[in-house]
Amino acid sequence: MSNLSSTQRWRWWPLLPLYPYGRKRTIFRELLPNQIWSFEQLQGIYYVAVPVRLLVVRVKGGLMLINPLPPTDELLKDLKKLQEKFGPVKTIALPSASGLEHKIALPALARAFPLSRLWLCPGQWSFPFQFPFDWLGIPSSRTNILFADGLPHTDCCEWISLGPIDIGLGRFQEISCFHKPSKSLIVTDALVAIDSSPPDLFDLDPTPLLFHAREKGSEALIDSPILRRKGWLRLVLFASFLKPEKLKIPTISKIIKNSFKPGLRNMRSHLGIYPFSWDEDWELSAKKLVGNNKPLIQVAPVLERLVFPRSKKTFIDWLDKVKLINGMSWLISAHYKGLVNFNQNDAKALKLKIEKGSWDETNGDWKFLGWLDKTLLRNRIVPKNPLGKFGG
Ligand SMILES: [Fe+2]
Repeated sequence: MSNLSSTQRWRWWPLLPLYPYGRKRTIFRELLPNQIWSFEQLQGIYYVAVPVRLLVVRVKGGLMLINPLPPTDELLKDLKKLQEKFGPVKTIALPSASGLEHKIALPALARAFPLSRLWLCPGQWSFPFQFPFDWLGIPSSRTNILFADGLPHTDCCEWISLGPIDIGLGRFQEISCFHKPSKSLIVTDALVAIDSSPPDLFDLDPTPLLFHAREKGSEALIDSPILRRKGWLRLVLFASFLKPEKLKIPTISKIIKNSFKPGLRNMRSHLGIYPFSWDEDWELSAKKLVGNNKPLIQVAPVLERLVFPRSKKTFIDWLDKVKLINGMSWLISAHYKGLVNFNQNDAKALKLKIEKGSWDETNGDWKFLGWLDKTLLRNRIVPKNPLGKFGG
């Protein structure tokens, strides 16, 4: 029951401010010279924000955008420069069926490039109803479905499906892209590479890091490299496990006692409210998620525990296809670190690690995710057999 009561206390969480509100700062960079560029923005809840990435990939005669982001003026300005040099945006690909954070900006991006063709992962779902594409602002006349309608840019791209699997409210599927000229495997949510230091995006505004670097709401937000790193590690724990083991929620009276202190009664400090307290040894948990000298490539815990708990084989099948890609040198993910070294041997090592390790863990940091999965399963929101619908 203790789990249940802690989740009930969790319930008001989404009522708190969304970060970064209406402001979308974007970082533009070239990932691989003359081949791949990225736009990054922060997205998250209550100062738990991780980078979300749109990729620009050079294809024959122009450019392909993978994973839409809100097309702010800042973003469009840099894209225009790329188009002048490398040709028009020919394709916009949304290779994920489920990740809302990737699909929300598709209509706006499609309007910004009226001559582009859209390629979507099969099984797009809109909750709670399945609306026709056009109602969602997706122009059906120039929309194609990956695999069902063929595949775009096969001269330079190899498309590899992860899934589909049935996750109750819809399906999970992602179509990863191996871009041959740049030797890069482009994934959406399948894998992430997490660094021990905060992404550059936080240089624009380190507030989320400083916010979580404190022990209680009465502490001021102080900026230093050490505190930025501390805040980042905690943020990684939040984003990975939703409720990490070493995080406690103090009583309401304790929270109030430490809130609304002079100098902190502002929106930036959330009025001095910090409804968390961390155990002393919290950093040990974080160290398991981040790499030492290089970003640690992994299956995001939320994906492993909530999307694939009963379909490890589907993930391994995808990895089996990935490890056959000759010449693969890079992994580029839509979250966390953008570009990391990744070759066939790394894919093999990852497979071995997954096969040897525990998959649907329910202890320690995984306790909350395990509880959530069990509850969804018990209430038949997620199916027992995730491959049932798809003939598995
Ligand atoms: Fe995602």
